[in-house]
Amino acid sequence: MSPDRPVRRGRYPLSLRRNAVAWERQQPTWREARPAVIARALKRAQARPSGNWFVVGASQDVRDDRPLARTVAGQELVVWRDAAGQLVAGPGVCPHLGAPLRDSPVRCGTLVCHWHGLSLRGTAFAGWEPLPVHDDGVLVWVRLDAVGGETPLEAPVVPVRPAPTRALSAVYIGVGTCEPEDVVANRLDPWHGAWFHPYSFVDLAVVDTAAVEDERVKHDEGGAAHEGEPVDEDAFTVDVSFKVAGRLVVPVRAVFTAPEPRTVLMRITRGEGAGSVVETHATPLGPDEHGRPRTAVIEAVVAASDRPGFSVARRMTPLLRPLMRTAAGRLWRDDLAYAERRWQLRSTGRFPG
Ligand code: FES
Ligand SMILES: [Fe+2]
Repeated sequence: MSPDRPVRRGRYPLSLRRNAVAWERQQPTWREARPAVIARALKRAQARPSGNWFVVGASQDVRDDRPLARTVAGQELVVWRDAAGQLVAGPGVCPHLGAPLRDSPVRCGTLVCHWHGLSLRGTAFAGWEPLPVHDDGVLVWVRLDAVGGETPLEAPVVPVRPAPTRALSAVYIGVGTCEPEDVVANRLDPWHGAWFHPYSFVDLAVVDTAAVEDERVKHDEGGAAHEGEPVDEDAFTVDVSFKVAGRLVVPVRAVFTAPEPRTVLMRITRGEGAGSVVETHATPLGPDEHGRPRTAVIEAVVAASDRPGFSVARRMTPLLRPLMRTAAGRLWRDDLAYAERRWQLRSTGRFPG
């Protein structure tokens, strides 16, 4: 954690960076950020099951009067709530003559095609077949078995989050020209934080990559060892300070893991807002008009606070504010540029990693 002097400003434990280091004088991280380490962590993430579930958007974006629409791997999808308030999902192409159902209204839980009035109540009808859908309270997931190609799971792999009663959530959605793995690889490189995002992060140190670096031995249930097999608990542990204003920072410890192939989780484990999570989900959208892949970054920030009197007005404590700011897009504009660059280089055989 930061050695800097803790100061109290109001009720909040901020630190004052006394020996602030100029950006260009901070410790270079490129030697530690070994491409092979990131590549191995990515490979292990990709080997974990997703059960064919894809994040399509924020729960709060499913409104009463129109569907939430998303194209996943080239398939148009619509999600809405039926008359009983249950989430339903299915193809976004009307089975009659192909109207885009994303533009159709929802009336009393029925999606009514705006071309000729075909009514969908969420059950199979006239050639339209519903898809499995899951609302985890923050995000909506749809299961696409033909796209995922894995053994289906009953429910998606949803990270453990702080209890909603003591948390505040926000969802940021951005789109880049890249594949999901480029988004995941960006998040599995925590070393770029203070160099690439100096407006948000300072004094970043990756304190533990042991689980990632492992060539450890894994034991199966019978006790037999399998040399070199990945362990499940890949994690990058990072000490970093979130910039609040001027030299005021909030030092925290954060742990990055990849619970499934298209998700990277950052959990604050020490410091203000411990238990808060930032979940980055990468959803393949399909090719653009030039045949290049497009990927949505759907990022949920679920910020927790144990402060007494945790009222709406007090929710935005110093860490929560910069955390929620990740939802405002600057970090992701830069990180999407990183992911897009990675894809450009990969797709032309120029990626050095
Ligand atoms: S295209 Fe939807 S009802 Fe005709
Ligand atoms: Fe980043």
